[in-house]
Amino acid sequence: MARILKFPKGFLWGSSTSAYQVEGGIENCDWAERYPAGQACDHYNRYEQDFDLLKKFNQNAHRFSIEWSRIEPELGKFNQKEIEHYRKVLLALKKRNIKSVVTLWHWTNPLWFMEMGGWANKKSINYFENYTKVIVKELGDLIDFWVILNEPMIYISGYSTGKFPPFQRKNIFKIRKVFNNLIKAHQTAYQAIHTQYPKAKVSISKLTNYFEPARKWCPLEIFLAEIFHYLWNERFLKKIKNHFDYIGLDYYFHDRIVFYPDIQKIEAGMGVKVAFIKNLNEKVSDMGWEIYPEGIYYVLKYLSKFQKPIYILENGLADAKDEKRKDFIKDHLFWIHKAIENGIDIRGYFHWSLMDNYEWGRMGGFGPRFGLIEIDYKTMEREPRPSAYYYAEICKNNSLTIEQ
Ligand code: BGC
Repeated sequence: MARILKFPKGFLWGSSTSAYQVEGGIENCDWAERYPAGQACDHYNRYEQDFDLLKKFNQNAHRFSIEWSRIEPELGKFNQKEIEHYRKVLLALKKRNIKSVVTLWHWTNPLWFMEMGGWANKKSINYFENYTKVIVKELGDLIDFWVILNEPMIYISGYSTGKFPPFQRKNIFKIRKVFNNLIKAHQTAYQAIHTQYPKAKVSISKLTNYFEPARKWCPLEIFLAEIFHYLWNERFLKKIKNHFDYIGLDYYFHDRIVFYPDIQKIEAGMGVKVAFIKNLNEKVSDMGWEIYPEGIYYVLKYLSKFQKPIYILENGLADAKDEKRKDFIKDHLFWIHKAIENGIDIRGYFHWSLMDNYEWGRMGGFGPRFGLIEIDYKTMEREPRPSAYYYAEICKNNSLTIEQ
């Protein structure tokens, strides 16, 4: 028997991207030298065509990021042509009646900023504030939702794994500085936006993992799961708790915590975090990441304690053959709907990603296929996958149909 799960009126249905991953032609940022993204999806030139697809697929909202290194290629010098470009992008969304969710910082930094010490430099707070103020002044009238920072904890942990620019490993002192500076930068940018637009809806996108003890009776595993939860999910959010108007959630990971650290992994530099995690991996994506839809329910339950509306700003998988994406969407939405039924104020869902794109770092590049729309990187042709049509129906009906 079919059951129809209705979503609240005005629910936002969309998909997300970030500048470096889709635009192409970004050369003046810290990722470009070691991990060049080249023309990426050429979205910089094809955004009108891509937004037509959003419309065709019934999405009423879209999350994308502004590339700081385009806007401010040199310290204090703002590029009017690039500002105009993003104005046109925002107007193109408006014209199609699609709400904009704009990320100010999705991990990439201008080269001059890194030369001055990047986020470990205290002045980063001011530099970021100046950039934010320019965006507020020049584009603020067209922005519906603000995301100041994308997943700061992943970026901060890059100073331990060395996987992110400046590609330094195990730099404990810098980790502290970067953590504190990102918090301050967020708070300062939040004020800057609110000074100009007191009613602005501002947040971050917070990667939140579902940590559970592998053995529910094991005090050590319970304790470890709580520690991971606190350090990874809670600490940053708590520090900025007076500086967000909604919660932006990115959900990808379920971490089943065990207490028998894999010393080999630690020695191989794979990090302590990995060593304590042992997932059952009954279903995995092309990246080998476990697919665990139920976890989003527990994460939403946890986030509800902050008593702010929640928007899921990223959730998705690499699935080149599009064999798992439809069920992935269905199952995650099922648990999201359950959370809504239980009184949690959830107002939007954004799939990662609208289209295939550049995936960060060593395991990434253009191999993993996260898109509802397939990209042929030779011809730049866009080919919607079957799951894009499936998601489009959900967006159109504002409901999910499940068989029971
Ligand atoms: C990031 C995206 C990334 C995705 C898949 C998220 O953590 O915000 O930029 O492509 O995960 O790895």
